[in-house]
Formats: sequence, structure tokens, C-alpha cells
Amino acid sequence: MGKNMITAVNVIEERENGITFFEMKNDELQIRVTNLGCHILSIFAKDRDGKQEDVVLGFEEIEDCKEDGTYMGAIVGRVANRIKGASFELNGKTYKLAVNNGPNHLHGGEIGFDQKIFCYEIIENGILFSCISPDMEEGYPGTLELKVKYLLTGNNLTMEYEAWSDEDTLCNITNHSYFNLSAGKEKIYDHYLKINADKIACVDENCCTTGEFMDVKDTPFDFHDYHKIGERINDDCEQLKLASGYDHSFMVKGDENQLSLYDEKSGRKLTVSTTLPAVQIYTGNFLDEGCNGKQGKPYENRDGVAIEPQFLPDSIHIEKEPKVILRKGEIYKATTKYIFQVDEQ
Ligand code: GLA
Repeated sequence: MGKNMITAVNVIEERENGITFFEMKNDELQIRVTNLGCHILSIFAKDRDGKQEDVVLGFEEIEDCKEDGTYMGAIVGRVANRIKGASFELNGKTYKLAVNNGPNHLHGGEIGFDQKIFCYEIIENGILFSCISPDMEEGYPGTLELKVKYLLTGNNLTMEYEAWSDEDTLCNITNHSYFNLSAGKEKIYDHYLKINADKIACVDENCCTTGEFMDVKDTPFDFHDYHKIGERINDDCEQLKLASGYDHSFMVKGDENQLSLYDEKSGRKLTVSTTLPAVQIYTGNFLDEGCNGKQGKPYENRDGVAIEPQFLPDSIHIEKEPKVILRKGEIYKATTKYIFQVDEQ
């Protein structure tokens, strides 16, 4: 095995309240995470000259996540993104969910998976986190068990999700990391983005998906070729105005490398491969409403871009056969891989 394939995984701090901090490290990447909401705290990745710097946003103090609406680095669920009207029907029954975003339900409710302390086990090349969400937690039926694996191999960070429930329920898990490949030297306007997607899911004024899909051709949402995030973000386009920037699910095509983010100055490139059908791109349009970040001050809007692979948001209200339904006895499985590279200039 090559030298850089050896990954060391260690507990670096264990607090009395159960919050534990971990480091996964090899020659390519150094990643810190915690079992509180499985937050990714930092990812040190090399630039073109081999300099390792932190390319994700994070909290100054992790417990601030309880007061915060940015979900920086967290695992979110049971259902990522918005459920319109915070209610849904399943098997002829109406379920009322926690209302925590205008009239809607966002990212699993008041106390979503981002705030749970997960059990953990150190495994080869990574960490296996698990938690149980009791029946009717935040309004969802069924006791659900979730397993999240973070694996570091070479320059890949892989996240594997598995969940099952003792009753039919909903499940849509994502990681909510915001990336800034310049390591915070600049906002994300000059980051190049490329997405293999022909369509986006349209949103309304509350950022809820409407069930309409827009062809990206000739719009600021066409990222088939690399475009700077800032190039068209202020264009006169209704979908951009409704969300104050990009905050949309791109319906991705293909099985791998559906998305790349590239910073020309540092040479860093992040490629994302996912088994999931949609990737929400959120350009941090309301980041300045959040808690203190790593530099001890709140982040500003557009300091990072969140890349959130998931099922179609509000799938339960939109899809004829909603992928978000997890039937009793079935297993929800998804994998997303984040590949960190540099260009050769
Ligand atoms: C998601 C949503 C955004 C916003 C963030 C959290 O990305 O799509 O609208 O709510 O989460 O701040």
C-alpha cells in the first residue's frame, strides 16, 4: 500500500457531555469531525504548492450549532431541506412536523440530526457514527436508526449513509458542508463550478420546491461548462431573485463526478460523486445571520458554498413515487464521495 493510503484515525478530545472530537489524517488530507451532528469541523487540503489549508466553514465553538441556522458541516435529517407546510400524508395519515422555517419544516426540525450526539466506533480508515431517532421525533413516524460512515482514503472523503425504520417513514440525509477552496482568502464568487445537470428544481419565495423544473439552457443555472459562481449570480433571473442567489437543487446526471468546484488561484479542485439524484447548491445567501465562525466573527454572505447531495427536496409532495419514503423493512443507502485534487499549472 502506498504511503499516502495510510489513514490514522484518532480521538483528539472527549468532553464530559459526550461530545467527542476526531481527526482522520493521511498524507493528502487532515479532517476533523465530531460526533455532535457528525459535523465536519475542518478539512485541510493541499494547494498547488502543497500548502495545506482549511477549505470548509465551521463554528468557533461547536455547541453554537444549537442556536444557529447555517448547519455548517452537519449531517442533516431525517429529511434534508424543506417540507412545505410542515406536514405530509403517508398511508392515509397526516403527520404534522416541527415548523422551523417560516410556515415550513427545514432540515429535520427544531432538533434535527445536526444536534444529536452520535455513538461512534473507529473503523479502518474512518469512523462509523450511529444514532436512533425515536418514533414521532419532530413529528416523523417510526423509530429510525441511522448509520453514517466517514472514510478517508488517499484524497477521497467518502460518506456512506444507511437507515432503516420500524414503520414507514421519510428519510433524506445529507451533509451540509460549505466549501471555500481559497481557504477563506476570498468569497466564493471566483470559484468555478461545473455541474452535470440539465434541470433545476424551481423554488418559491420561501425556497420551497414548487414541483416545476427549469431547463438550465440559456440561464444562469447552466453549469455544463465551468462558470464562476459570481458570473451570473446577480442576473435578472426570477429563480435567482426568489432565493437571493443560488439555493437550488440541480437534478444531476450520471453515476459519478457530477459536480466540480475549482479555485484557480490555489489550484484546488473538489469533485463530488454521489448516488443521489439531486445536489442542492446554496451560495451562503444568508450566512451573515449565523454564529461566530472559526475566525471568531460571523461569516459573511457568500463566504462559502454548500454542496448538498440529496433526494429531490419536498419529494413527498412532488414525486408520484416519492423517493423520500423509507418503508419498514427496507434500507435507505446513499454514498457521496468528495475528491480533493490540484491542477498542474
Ligand atoms: C439549505 C437551504 C438554505 C438554507 C440553508 C441553511 O442549504 O437550502 O435555504 O436554509 O440550508 O442555512
